Amino acid sequence: LPVLRRRLLNWYDRAKRDLPWRRTSDPYRIWLSEIMLQQTRVEAVIPYYRNFLRQFPGVAALARAPEERVLAAWSGLGYYSRARNLQRAARAILEHHAGKFPREERDVLALPGIGQYTAAAVLSIAYGVPLAVLDGNVARVLSRLLMLSANVRDSRGKQQLWKQAEQLLDARRPGDFNQAMMELGATVC
Ligand code: ADE
Repeated sequence: LPVLRRRLLNWYDRAKRDLPWRRTSDPYRIWLSEIMLQQTRVEAVIPYYRNFLRQFPGVAALARAPEERVLAAWSGLGYYSRARNLQRAARAILEHHAGKFPREERDVLALPGIGQYTAAAVLSIAYGVPLAVLDGNVARVLSRLLMLSANVRDSRGKQQLWKQAEQLLDARRPGDFNQAMMELGATVC
């Protein structure tokens, strides 16, 4: 495992795409990217991501904006509940966390529109919290790297894959490690 971990990170350092949300450690920006990327491809997300941040540069700006403006900025991305939840979550962060994206996993999971995958992605990438991500892509990469036959669609298989993802995670660079798994799934595997 240590060899695999190191090789994966070395590959990521060399091969990673230069994406706008990889040039920041602002949790708001990383959160926004993760929500946009849930149902939309990277190339389609980039112009929306830039425009959205011009209009709503932070949690407070998003929380205070009229909902119609937020939905207008989302127009074309689809799945508008993502935008509504994003704004509801921004309002909750302003009210309960003084406008700062929370660091505690349970506080993040309490926000509208944020499940286990997104919580782990934002916390690991923005704050370096050692939480593994698991989605269909990561499950496929893990299965191939470790030659597993576990099926992510059944609960026992999912549990096994979680355990593997947590064991393989690099606790010193959890955000890069998680993005390396996503990147391998998106571009190679
Ligand atoms: N898909 C989900 N999160 C991503 C990220 N941080 N970079 C690229 N693709 C992703």
